[in-house]
Amino acid sequence: MVFRLKLILFLVLHFLPKVKSSMVSLNNNGYEDIVIAINPSVPENETLIQSIKEMVTEASTYLFHATERRVYFRNVSILIPVTWESKSEYLMPKQESYDQADVIVADPYLKYGDDPYTLQYGQCGEKGQYIHFTPNFLLTDNMSIYGPRGKVFVHEWAHLRWGVFDEYNVDRPFYISRKNTIEATRCSTHITGMNVVFNECKGGSCITRQCRRDSKTGLYEAKCTFIPNKSQTARDSIMFMQNLNSVTEFCTAKTHNTEAPNLQNKMCNHKSTWDVIKESDDFQNASPMTGTNLPPHPIFSLLKSKHRVVCLVLDKSGSMNTVRQFLLTFKYLIEI
Ligand SMILES: *[C@@H]1O[C@H](CO)[C@@H](O)[C@H](O)[C@H]1NC(C)=O
Ligand SMILES: *[C@@H]1O[C@H](CO)[C@@H](O)[C@H](O)[C@H]1NC(C)=O
Ligand SMILES: *[C@@H]1O[C@H](CO)[C@@H](O)[C@H](O)[C@H]1NC(C)=O
Ligand SMILES: *[C@@H]1O[C@H](CO)[C@@H](O)[C@H](O)[C@H]1NC(C)=O
Repeated sequence: MVFRLKLILFLVLHFLPKVKSSMVSLNNNGYEDIVIAINPSVPENETLIQSIKEMVTEASTYLFHATERRVYFRNVSILIPVTWESKSEYLMPKQESYDQADVIVADPYLKYGDDPYTLQYGQCGEKGQYIHFTPNFLLTDNMSIYGPRGKVFVHEWAHLRWGVFDEYNVDRPFYISRKNTIEATRCSTHITGMNVVFNECKGGSCITRQCRRDSKTGLYEAKCTFIPNKSQTARDSIMFMQNLNSVTEFCTAKTHNTEAPNLQNKMCNHKSTWDVIKESDDFQNASPMTGTNLPPHPIFSLLKSKHRVVCLVLDKSGSMNTVRQFLLTFKYLIEI
């Protein structure tokens, strides 16, 4: 009996998908075997696959420059849901599954709407669980809000892979600096902009006015927003606002804003994102690529599993024969 129980346990543990472990590895500057999985409840639309490919291809170039020629995306598997039509070009997945995907495409999780996010509940420098993009984010352009999707991907990848945090803070958009000025929570402080309150908006243009100081808090009034100038010279940071054209780098020890009340400073003891990234395992093994050539574009594999049913047959009679039968049945079901 004990033997049988152990056997069944072994089978179950062995054949069920493993709990959250990414297959991504970094070899010779290239990330390999990233899994991007589409949720089975997402309606079929091939444009999604195209959009994922474009996003990752664009991201690879941004990542390469932002990491000073250290890393790029070499190959990626896109897991197509069983609910979509099959195609001869689709391959069978091996270990890839939705549950252990690095990136999921799924309907919005209420709290975030269409905003991409990365689930990372670890400490500074620890890896996250997954990145979530919604179909709407991938299918409709919202350039002024997010910037190019490739840049968004790099922002999320930095959360997922290197455990760095946001440098904005919607709950504390302003703070009082050591010089006793009101500053927008940002990195770097070279990002210029104006602090305004929107009064009336009609047909895409708004009447704004300057923010007033609240005598109680010493900060600006609650409705005040920092609007960065469209035209900037600051290159950092990707973890603040990747949507700004000039922004292509992470804040470094030199440019990092240690005063801003943001999650990066809180979680990483006021260290810059670039310093945290440089200390990651990835960067211990990746020296910058020599020469001036760009790395190759990422290669995509499209994977789709066939519908399959796995059921466990439990038998109460004591003979070894049933154990054997059970084994064979189980093996057969797995291999369909
Ligand atoms: C990615 O590239 C590596 C090295 O060339 C290879 O071993 C691996 O099978 C590739 N994976 C995919 C999904 O193409
Ligand atoms: C796929 O998405 C695009 C962009 O939203 C839309 O124009 C197109 O009609 C969709 N196709 C299908 C088959 O739903
Ligand atoms: C763009 O983003 C805004 C704000 O998040 C949202 O209200 C709007 O629906 C988005 N537009 C599209 C086309 O996704
Ligand atoms: C940029 O921001 C500064 C405030 O930091 C403002 O004085 C200036 O007028 C802005 N420039 C443009 C072109 O909006």
